Amino acid sequence: MKALCELTLLENKQLARDLWLARFSAGESSHLLVRVRAGMFTMIRCDEADELRFRRPFSFADVDAERCTFAVYYRVVGSQTQSLADYKEGERLSAVLPLGNGFSLPEGNEDPVLVGGGIGVAPLLMLCRELERAGQRTPRFYFGSRCEEDLTRSYVEDFPAEFRFATDDGSFGYQGTIVDLLKNDGFGDTARIYACGPKPMLKALCSALPEHAQAEASLEEVMGCGIGACYGCAVRTTAAGVDETKLVCRDGPVFNLRGVSY
Ligand code: FES
Repeated sequence: MKALCELTLLENKQLARDLWLARFSAGESSHLLVRVRAGMFTMIRCDEADELRFRRPFSFADVDAERCTFAVYYRVVGSQTQSLADYKEGERLSAVLPLGNGFSLPEGNEDPVLVGGGIGVAPLLMLCRELERAGQRTPRFYFGSRCEEDLTRSYVEDFPAEFRFATDDGSFGYQGTIVDLLKNDGFGDTARIYACGPKPMLKALCSALPEHAQAEASLEEVMGCGIGACYGCAVRTTAAGVDETKLVCRDGPVFNLRGVSY
């Protein structure tokens, strides 16, 4: 059950030129945070002075339900996210949470392999915590970005995972795409794939998947309402050979990686 709640900004810090981390207290809403799973998202009003604007979607990057806090990792890409970046510690914003489905956990002897591109790293960071809490194996985490600065390693390397990095310009790690790095390393016979990132990355990953591997992807679709009313986040999917239109906010954002039309 989602609900509207009032957030207090605890921290809002710049991690790289346009990448930020905001940490919020959800006040009395700890019962909502207990239900958050990796892959879910929240809609935050980024400008409290402009009530006519839609709230913007943010994946949970980290949740501490005991302290009733959570973090979002975001890129400043326009006026709304710039407005969020301008908020200071102690200021209040409203949000609806939690929204969407989440990733499912590995089964049997499956090894989690996480593949993130750019800002798509956010829900996968939270998945690292969830896997650790569930006593699962430490994941291999493939993270690709434009350049070393955008890897924000001082933040992401605190999460429990074995990181492998790729950058477009070769300034850190493998030079090239994160999918090529994963193909070079090999998926492994027991890999279960979790992905989030731009569609070209997901499409390349889908093409490279070994037949045996289960794979889920959290889609980064542009959203308006976030609650299934505007149809702004529609995607084409295929399930058991049947084409369907799904809404990322209502039916996702996590889908079978193979079932999405890219
Ligand atoms: Fe409006 Fe999904 S964002 S229907």
